[in-house]
Amino acid sequence: MSGGLVTAAYIVAAILFICSLAGLSKHETSKQGNIFGMSGMAIALLATIFGPNTGNVAWILLAMVIGGAIGLRLAKKVEMTEMPELVAILHSFVGLAAVLVGFNSYIDHAPGLAPVMENIHLTEVFLGIFIGAVTFTGSLVAFGKLRGKISSSALMLPHRHKMNLAALVVSFLLMLWFVQTDSTGAQVFALLLMTVIALVFGWHLVASIGGADMPVVVSMLNSYSGWAAAAAGFMLSNDLLIVTGALVGSSGAILSYIMCKAMNRSFISVIAGGFGTDVSVGGESDEVGEHREITAEETAEMLKASSSVVITPGYGMAVAQAQYPVAEITEKLRARGIKVRFGIHPVAGRLPGHMNVLLAEAKVPYDVVLEMDEINDDFSDTDTVLVIGANDTVNPAALEDPRSPIAGMPVLEVWKAQNVIVFKRSMSTGYAGVQNPLFFKDNTQMLFGDAKASVEGILRAL
Ligand code: TAP
Repeated sequence: MSGGLVTAAYIVAAILFICSLAGLSKHETSKQGNIFGMSGMAIALLATIFGPNTGNVAWILLAMVIGGAIGLRLAKKVEMTEMPELVAILHSFVGLAAVLVGFNSYIDHAPGLAPVMENIHLTEVFLGIFIGAVTFTGSLVAFGKLRGKISSSALMLPHRHKMNLAALVVSFLLMLWFVQTDSTGAQVFALLLMTVIALVFGWHLVASIGGADMPVVVSMLNSYSGWAAAAAGFMLSNDLLIVTGALVGSSGAILSYIMCKAMNRSFISVIAGGFGTDVSVGGESDEVGEHREITAEETAEMLKASSSVVITPGYGMAVAQAQYPVAEITEKLRARGIKVRFGIHPVAGRLPGHMNVLLAEAKVPYDVVLEMDEINDDFSDTDTVLVIGANDTVNPAALEDPRSPIAGMPVLEVWKAQNVIVFKRSMSTGYAGVQNPLFFKDNTQMLFGDAKASVEGILRAL
């Protein structure tokens, strides 16, 4: 394939990636968005593999077959609730790839560059490895936290912000040395030392962010992985990788900003590793009163007597896969003339849009699925709220307790309704690890058990 054809293919692929992002921004067009993205990637791969600058095609194809087979198997096996972990581990691969590309382009770069170009190349290598290493360990910690292998609470090391700042300053000084010195030994030493610092820095940055802020971290790492890919694009002189990396990097940053706004968090505080989050973490044992229980049959009676019902789903609905019986209940209640709506918190579940995807899968009509801001004023006029597997996103402590780790985060104000039924299996805490005073309010009753079984019980009784 000629160089001109490769450039044309890259332009087509870049346009398809932009169309893909546009498509993915709405439920109705998300399938189309995926198709655009896959087509763009297929064109990009073919143009790169068969382009004039690529050798060892057989090795590349072999690696692709092995990698593709592993990816296909993992994608088929992964549960919807495990998606965020999968995304986090994939980000770590992008980071690792940028580190490897960085070392490779340092070792293998074409000799005889003009001094200015040589300096630019060395800076690209240094920054590429730095961003890649931070993304690599940061994503591994995010994976561990999302999978429950590492505690979701924030690691609060003394002087942690000073340590972060020191890591940045030392890395910057190492970069100046790396670019200016003529000694290969000194360059290798600076590169290796910075890599170790960046690996520890990435690990510490994410470890110091508490569970409730993890959504922002995941989208931030998404953004870092994009910049790591763009850095790799500069090192490999591959225009499409630069464009694609920049698209991922900037859309991840925009998503992080949107999530920070939705959670009332400062963008800078979150990316600076939980800056300003020195708060106490309440535990499971910190119960704040007596709770009352209700059965599925009693809940069905309460629903029949209601004229307005709001359902606020959370991570537990995804775990129980309760969205199908929930959709059936919605249909049955609506057939009785009861007004049923859904209230969706922006960080309910474990990935942006998690609840919307599940409800769309179960064919709940879009027009009854409302965002938090659209429904929050209506709770006081609601007869019954069904909190299905949600916890942090309906926790009044966010508004009432300034020392709570979720303080300041807007929540669904379900307690303002006449009756609140909470579906969960035990009194254990939500993802942020704090007890929920909602469970002990006079108008709240707990329906214990797996959410799917409880909703099916109500369905039978309706
Ligand atoms: P969570 O606070 O995670 O609580 C989920 C609740 O579901 C738990 O209290 C759990 O209680 C219950 N549950 C689990 N399995 C269940 C089952 N099979 N049946 C019934 N109940 C079950 O949920 P949330 O309100 O959706 O909040 C999300 C949290 O995750 C927030 O803190 C958010 O910041 C964080 N987070 C979100 C994202 C994104 S992007 N959405 C990403 C990472 C983290 P039991 O164990 O007692 O049943």
